[in-house]
Amino acid sequence: MGKKGLITVLIKQISSLKSNEKALAGKTLNVIKKDIVKLIEEKKNKIYRDDLNKKLKNEKIDIFMPGRPLKKGGIHPISKTTDEIISIMGSMGFNVEEGPHIENEFNNFTALNIPEDHPARQDHDTFYLKKTQSERKLLRTHTSPVQIRVMKRDDPPIRIIAPGSTYRCDDDATHSPMFHQIEGLVIEEYVTMSNLKWVIKKLLTDFFEIKNIPMRFRPSYFPFTEPSAEVDIGCSIIDGKLTVGSEENWLEVMGCGMVNPKVLENCKVYNTKINGFAFGLGVERFAMLKYGIADLRMFYENDLRWLNYYNFSSTGFPNILRGL
Ligand code: PHE
Repeated sequence: MGKKGLITVLIKQISSLKSNEKALAGKTLNVIKKDIVKLIEEKKNKIYRDDLNKKLKNEKIDIFMPGRPLKKGGIHPISKTTDEIISIMGSMGFNVEEGPHIENEFNNFTALNIPEDHPARQDHDTFYLKKTQSERKLLRTHTSPVQIRVMKRDDPPIRIIAPGSTYRCDDDATHSPMFHQIEGLVIEEYVTMSNLKWVIKKLLTDFFEIKNIPMRFRPSYFPFTEPSAEVDIGCSIIDGKLTVGSEENWLEVMGCGMVNPKVLENCKVYNTKINGFAFGLGVERFAMLKYGIADLRMFYENDLRWLNYYNFSSTGFPNILRGL
């Protein structure tokens, strides 16, 4: 069958035959060729089948063999808390957005209506990077610049949350130079403070799994929201543990408000029917309250005893329908 094989040679010789012999010779050779191909194919299949049968006979699966344990390790409380909040907000139609940790001054401050002389801009609170010819970059001091990026990119309606790490030049028992926030932003037609309140109440109720969670809105000020409020939840100390649920003490858990029209303008949202609300929360604070973690610094120390204690299962994403 090969280049110099018998069949090939014979086929080549057909041309030298007498014309009345050519047809018969061609047909015959073709039949022979087909038969040979078929035999080869059958032999190949038989070899394959025999091989497979041999394997099946020798390699039995022992269904009574014990399972192998999963590798040790689990989800860090920061990730767990973030995942839980993502799943709650997801149930209300919020998408997750991310932004870079190295930001420019426009997105982190200017577009958010934070004036040039605002204390947060000064080197004291902000980690600035070396200045290049054109601009001064910085480590984002909050997740609010993601609001700006999304508003510049997308048309309303917008419903997003933006989880991620943020950086401030602060380091003591209750502040870490790197911490985590989750930003929320809704930009739609005619949204109100009452919508904001409902969303936050739902988030807090589902997260802490406490019906009628004590919560209060306290008037506050942020340059990028107007009016602005801080949200407190009620808690008390039971057996030395901070516990959410009573109105004994109030603990601030997030900032929020209606998006300042100046911010909308800075992002070129000019439709007057469109407005929105925003909120920003600290993930560590939420995690500490829910899981009874007393010291902020433990999150980053990588103490194996601590990590093993707060070791959340690494299988499955929190699901609000199934329970967090
Ligand atoms: N960015 C604010 C902070 O870091 C929090 C905030 C976000 C407040 C959105 C209002 C609206 O403190």
